[in-house]
This record gives sequence, C-alpha cells and structure tokens, in this order.
Amino acid sequence: MLILHASELVTLKGPRRARAKAEMSDLSIVQDGAVAISDGVILDVGKTESILREHNSTGIERIDASGKVVMPGLVDPHTHLVYAGSREFELELKAKGKSYMEILEGGGGILRTVRDTRDSSPQDLFRQSAKRLESMLVHGSTTVEAKSGYGLDKDVEIRMLETIKRLDDEYPVSLVPTYLGAHVVPPEFKGDGDAYVDFMVVEVLPEIARRKLAEFCDVFCEKGIFNVQQSRKLLLAAKGFGMGLKVHADEFSNSGGAQLAAEVGAISADHLGKPSDDGIMAMARRDTIGVLLPGTPFSSMSKDYADGRRLIDLGVPIALGTDLNPNCWNESMQFTISLACHKMRMTPAEAITAATINAAAALGLERKVGSIEQGKRADVIMLDIPTYAHIPYKFGTNQVSLVIKDGRSVWER
Ligand code: NIG
Ligand code: FE
Repeated sequence: MLILHASELVTLKGPRRARAKAEMSDLSIVQDGAVAISDGVILDVGKTESILREHNSTGIERIDASGKVVMPGLVDPHTHLVYAGSREFELELKAKGKSYMEILEGGGGILRTVRDTRDSSPQDLFRQSAKRLESMLVHGSTTVEAKSGYGLDKDVEIRMLETIKRLDDEYPVSLVPTYLGAHVVPPEFKGDGDAYVDFMVVEVLPEIARRKLAEFCDVFCEKGIFNVQQSRKLLLAAKGFGMGLKVHADEFSNSGGAQLAAEVGAISADHLGKPSDDGIMAMARRDTIGVLLPGTPFSSMSKDYADGRRLIDLGVPIALGTDLNPNCWNESMQFTISLACHKMRMTPAEAITAATINAAAALGLERKVGSIEQGKRADVIMLDIPTYAHIPYKFGTNQVSLVIKDGRSVWER
C-alpha cells in the first residue's frame, strides 16, 4: 500500500523513547509526504516523489492524501474501557456541587459501577465494552490500554481481564491489559484496606500472573482510597511477578503517589492533579512518564487540571489518555488533545507527541508504535484537515477519515 501526497505527514521520527522538554515540540513533518506499507509494517517514509521513484510497481493499493494530515494511529494509554452500565445521573449531582469523592463516599461512583459490573453477564460486559472500542477506533485510536477494577473480587476481576483479551482478539485495535484490583476497597473489606491488599497479593495477583492476564498493575493511591504503604506493598508484589507498574497518583490531593511511582520504577504516574514538587522532580529524574487525563476534571466539573506546561518544563515526559470510564465517558483522543491545549497550556505539537510516541512509551511500546518510521507497525490514520493544529483547534467533531491498522484499512468515510 502507498499513501501519497499528504499535505502534512506527521512522522514523529526520533529517539525510540518518551520525548521530554523541547523534544515534545518536534513532530518531524514531511510536506507532500508518502508512506509505503508492506506486510503490516512500514517499509519506507519520505517525500511523495522519492517514494514513488522507489516503490512504483503496478498492483499496489494507492491512497491519495492530498490536502490531508497523515499521522501515527493514536495511542490511548489509560482507560477503564470494560464496565457495565452508566452514571449519567451523577451529572446532576455534580452540577449541584457534589465532588467526585463525595459521590464515591455516598456509595456511588466506582462502587455503583462495581455493582453493575458484578451483575452483568460476560456476554453483556463484552458487548457494552466492544461498542465503546469500535467508537475509539473510529476516532483514531489503534492501541488502547484497558484496566480491570470494577469486579474487585477475584472472579469478576479475571472476567474483566478475559474480556480485554477477547476484545484484543476480535477487534483491529491492540489492547494492553492492566490489573486495577486496587481501585477502591470493596464492600466485603470495608474499613480494612490492609486486608484487601493482602487478599490481592496472596489470592489474585499470583493467578493473574500465572495466566499472563495483565501486563501492568495499577493502584488508586489517593487520600481516602489506598495509602502509600498499601500501594507500595501491592506494586512491589506485582513487580516480583514481572508486571509493569502504573499509579493513579495525586489526582485530588498530594498523596505521595508521584514519588511512590518514581521510587518503585513505575512506567507512569497518571492524573497528577496535585503532585508535590519533590514528586515531580523524582519523576523527572527517573523518566517516569506523566499520563495526563484532562477529560476527568472536565467531566468532574473541577477546575483542577494538571499543569501540563509546568510538568513539561520541569522535564517530565508527558503522555495523554482519555481515562474513559463511567464518570468520564470520553472515547476520543482528539477531544483529549484539544482539552490538553485549552486547559493544560500544552501546545498542539506537544499534545500530539503526548498522544502518540509518549503514550506508546507509557505502555512500553515505543519500539513498535507511536511514530511513522521504517520497521514500525503500520498503524496510520488520515485526517481531513490541512494541518495538525486543527486537531485541538476544531473540537467536538471527528476529523479522522481513514484508519489503517497493521497495514489494513479498517475504517473509512
Ligand atoms: O481514573 N480515579 C479513579 N478511577 C477512575 C474513575 C473511575 C470511575 O469513576 O468509575 C479515574 O478517574
Ligand atoms: Fe483512571
């Protein structure tokens, strides 16, 4: 397959690692760019003229990208894709001034979705999640991380991870599974987070590791949820099983999450609404990626967006994710990029780096996806806009017009 005449071919060519500081502004754009794809892999990248000279045999599928942007498939490194039910009624509570934590403390929020998910059949859970995944693909996401965390007991957590596996098998999107048993203390362990952490370490983690159901282990380290000691215990146990680590860190208050993520060698610390300066500096020193989720304060009606500008300037490599979940039903990385620019003072180029190569790095996939370079997986999208800055600039509609996954065209309009 040849993609030809892109008005901007956004390659993100560069080091195969998360980009930091000024590197995040370098998209390595080729004007009148072209990509040659063969066997699901990127074969060559360059100016249309030179690609045509090298690869101009007959019988090759050609895609005309004149007037359009071509870029790597978007990578969504933080989602709670798999759940049952919805929580639209919380909108009214939030409008009347209730905070996310107040709704959770009243038995709603995550706990409400735990009830709905436990009550759903495996088939129904799959169907509801698949519908969201299809929409994410249509909005340009070709790699998506997905967490458990609405079962909390062993059986339903495993059912969630099996659902992620089945979605990965049946849809043209690569899914990366994360165990988030430590999402909240379940009703069976109410008031005893320590005992619940022991239960996960002794009963659940070994089984998940043995069956290779999760690549990462995550924990909601937050005042009133899991403290630093509990989080550390779980994460170190997961590390012992060879799993990568992630932390929901300092979302609402400085809870020591950013520092813990750096200390245990987590690949990323996510949210970062209120990290301490020490935590930020520790992350910058260890190249812990900061995954920012601007959809969450948006949907929680909060003004507390992470300070993307400051984090980048202090040297933390930043990625962006939707945080898709029943509080923040956001399936679009395009909208996320727009929010990052409007609410976190990130530039369009930084936000695009954060949604591609840096998001790939937050999943350990920086050598496989996240840029358009020779040898990488041919996950490529085309957008009906003349320049990349229109992604954040035009919001609320889908700019993607073609999605190529592993070298095959899987969606177009
Ligand atoms: O990342 N903060 C914790 N967990 C999710 C929300 C999950 C939910 O509200 O159902 C998040 O925002
Ligand atoms: Fe989350």
